[in-house]
Amino acid sequence: MSNKIPVGILGATGAVGQNYIFLLKDHPWFEVTWVAASPRSAGKKYSEAVANRWLHGPDIPEGVRDLLVYDANNALNAEGKCRFVFSALELDSKDAIRELENSYAALHIPVISNASAHRWTDNVPMLIPEINPDHISVIDEQKKMHGWDRGFVAVKPNCSLQSYMTPVYALMKAGYDVKRLFVATMQAVSGAGYPGVPSLDMIDNVVPYIGGEEEKSEQEPLKILGTVSGGKIVNASGPLITAHCNRVPVTNGHTACVSLEFGEKKPSLEEIEKIWTEFRGLPQELGLPFAPKQPIIVRHEVNRPQPQRDRDADKAMAVSVGRLRADPVFDIRFVGLSHNTVRGAAGGGIMNAELLKAKGYLV
Ligand SMILES: NC(=O)c1ccc[n+]([C@@H]2O[C@H](COP(=O)([O-])OP(=O)(O)OC[C@H]3O[C@@H](n4cnc5c(N)ncnc54)[C@H](OP(=O)(O)O)[C@@H]3O)[C@@H](O)[C@H]2O)c1
Repeated sequence: MSNKIPVGILGATGAVGQNYIFLLKDHPWFEVTWVAASPRSAGKKYSEAVANRWLHGPDIPEGVRDLLVYDANNALNAEGKCRFVFSALELDSKDAIRELENSYAALHIPVISNASAHRWTDNVPMLIPEINPDHISVIDEQKKMHGWDRGFVAVKPNCSLQSYMTPVYALMKAGYDVKRLFVATMQAVSGAGYPGVPSLDMIDNVVPYIGGEEEKSEQEPLKILGTVSGGKIVNASGPLITAHCNRVPVTNGHTACVSLEFGEKKPSLEEIEKIWTEFRGLPQELGLPFAPKQPIIVRHEVNRPQPQRDRDADKAMAVSVGRLRADPVFDIRFVGLSHNTVRGAAGGGIMNAELLKAKGYLV
């Protein structure tokens, strides 16, 4: 019998849920033992529920293929079947997701979520493990407030900002204040789930609108860069961010063109490259299984990073940056890229769980 931690997946049949199943196939610590989705899929074998929409090659992993899909709306279905769940749910309202995720936590089942519903709850950490692992400590206050002994909710941020927030944070950590940040993203269609954007809207086209995405890009970094005080996260007051988010006909990989203005102290381009190349965080220190060895990879080719060539860098968990140059309006500009359904979704969620286990929250 396996001594891995049994895990469940809410929204297991969707784009992100399928990616969890694919990425957890040979995970050294976790094993998928329970899957749940909408009442439409409930009662079917997993392989039947995803027939004609399985996105990861010819075979569904053996241990999952024959699992029965449960209705995710009833947390009692998960009792005794898993020690924690990854949430990749898409429901009609954020209130409904918040309530449902809380109902799992109340049954002693921690929830590591990809949904945006809990991102603004001030005692729920929104983690990028290389940036704000200390935010985990608010879980203690969250448990106390609800009277939960083992259950809790932790979330990850929006997928597109992972393409540039780690490089921006690395510069801040090195002592350079970032005053203003302009970003224009080119986001892959897989970011819209499955089946996602209609093909006639996407082929030979760019859609300069993704609902709610610009607000998330402008506000979520302030929580990620915030500080813990009194068991809650207090948002940072800057940088001031302006975002343009576009959907482009790329399958996977979100690209971001970024301009930054520093405070009085301004790093040279050579210093920036050195800071990025040498940057390491807690996941690297702890040797977490999903941690990229080098979180920020600097490309020197004039036309990189590109989704096709760079999205899979270091298990698709690294951020690739390139085209670092001076900016005549701001101080510097660069292009960042990361894999949206791995680093930006399931892979990021798995590394959050690894960090939480390493810190004793998933015993
Ligand atoms: N795609 C990305 O790159 C990305 C990145 C970061 C975060 N996210 C977030 O991750 C979550 C999942 O996204 P996705 O792209 O995987 O969406 P998706 O492909 O549309 O999948 C949605 C999942 O939710 C289930 N579901 C739908 N209605 C339900 C209901 N009434 N009750 C219970 N389950 C229900 C679906 O089950 P059925 O198959 O049975 O309908 C499916 O398993 C979303 O909150 C999204 O914002 C996505």
